[in-house]
Amino acid sequence: MPEPAAPLAVIVLAAGEGTRMRSPGRPKVLHGFAGRSMLGHVLAAVAPLRPGTTVVVVGHRREEVVAHLQEIAPDAVPVVQAEQHGTGHAVRLALEALDPSANGTVVVVPGDAPLLTDRALADLVAAHDDAAATLLTSVLPDPTGYGRVVRDADGGVARVVEQKDASDDELRVDEVATSVYAFDQALLREAVAKLSTDNAQGEEYLTDVIGMFAAAGRPIGAVQAPADETAGVNDRVQLAAAHRVYNTRLLEQHMRSGVTVVDPATTWVDAGVSIEVDAVLHPGTDLHGATRIGEGAEIGPQTSLTDTEVGARSRVERCVAKESRIGADVTIGPFAYLRPGTVLGDGVHIGTYVELKKADVGSGTKIPHLSYVGDATIGEHTNIGAATVFVNYDGVEKHRTTIGSHARTGADNMFVAPVEVGDGAYTAAGSVITQDVPPGAMGVARAHQRNVAGWVLRKRAGTAAARAAERALQALSADGEEG
Ligand code: UD1
Ligand code: CA
Repeated sequence: MPEPAAPLAVIVLAAGEGTRMRSPGRPKVLHGFAGRSMLGHVLAAVAPLRPGTTVVVVGHRREEVVAHLQEIAPDAVPVVQAEQHGTGHAVRLALEALDPSANGTVVVVPGDAPLLTDRALADLVAAHDDAAATLLTSVLPDPTGYGRVVRDADGGVARVVEQKDASDDELRVDEVATSVYAFDQALLREAVAKLSTDNAQGEEYLTDVIGMFAAAGRPIGAVQAPADETAGVNDRVQLAAAHRVYNTRLLEQHMRSGVTVVDPATTWVDAGVSIEVDAVLHPGTDLHGATRIGEGAEIGPQTSLTDTEVGARSRVERCVAKESRIGADVTIGPFAYLRPGTVLGDGVHIGTYVELKKADVGSGTKIPHLSYVGDATIGEHTNIGAATVFVNYDGVEKHRTTIGSHARTGADNMFVAPVEVGDGAYTAAGSVITQDVPPGAMGVARAHQRNVAGWVLRKRAGTAAARAAERALQALSADGEEG
């Protein structure tokens, strides 16, 4: 009976300093895009291989990298490479964390290749079969900086030579090693024990293992992947370029599954965003975190949503929203700001220059113009007048305002919390509401108007205003005489 296949192991190389990022504030592999670190992207590409063990080699600023791993991949095993003596050295240390009796396949991936796809990795593992090593390679228009894949007369892989060690002939090779490999674990163990540092960089090169295998006549495979799946990110220019490639790829997936993206060049979507069919994303839309867009919803233009849920057929225009829940058939904007804790029922309308925070708004309610709604509960089918402020802060503590259903609050109201307006109540325009308004009552809280007759004629005599007033008064009295 054949032995059951040993589970595959993965080694992620993430110990390097990444000086070219010029980032005093953050380790290289924690830079990222689309809501994930580079390390997160690599681990996401690896996950469908269902590795039995994933070892991540950490070194430079390892506390931060390990803390991040605990968040995104708690099952991954960090292995410390305190001094970075090269990719071969890193793999040698990683192998010490793997069971030496397990003789399956080891997949090695670099932590700085965030565009890797699960498909390229699956192809690599499928092609590997019984080889000693299988390389993932790419053909690049400009291979500068990469290790070159040197082939023998029969086209077999003979070795990989680093840029700094290559001859002029070798530098002309445009097929490069991507630092992604499948290895036979037992053979890899033997080989990394024999690596030397006799090269231009004085490092143990993992790439030298390939030459050793070839010299020993062991079978070596190679699988080519498109350059935009294997590109390494070493600086922030490459980071931005990788982000665009990733975003284009992600938007294409969304479009193929039924989402309209009007302008893919200005639409940015994180990896964790879900979008239902027939949704439309207008130009200048960016969707972050765990944002979910419902069927047929229209988002944008110029809209940023973070960790926000939008219900079916809702229309969100020129809006910023964070940690909010928007029901179905809602209309928002243009120019609204939904801060964390905003919950809008179905059919709500939020208009222009309206800011909400921790606001629970019932179905069918409208807040059409120029208002701040903080710490509020509003019932269903209520209308909030223009220019209303929910006065939630007394300088020390926040308080809540509750407004019932089918209420009509007047324009330019202040609700000084804590305060309650009952179902079916009205409030008068310009009111400062400091006391509860019972159901069905009209709350009026403003001074009575007083007109001082003839004030302008006396105090501003000779001005254009006074002359206009005189003419109007004369016309009125003439009218009175005729009538
Ligand atoms: C490496 C390959 C090169 C390949 C290129 C693809 C070697 C010697 N060279 O070169 O053939 O074309 O990747 O991008 O393997 N790392 C460690 N510990 C170390 C050194 C590196 O963990 O001691 C990690 C780095 O953090 C990085 C990865 O290994 O994630 C690759 O190292 P890097 O220095 O970027 O290698 P390259 O010069 O790009
Ligand atoms: Ca690199």
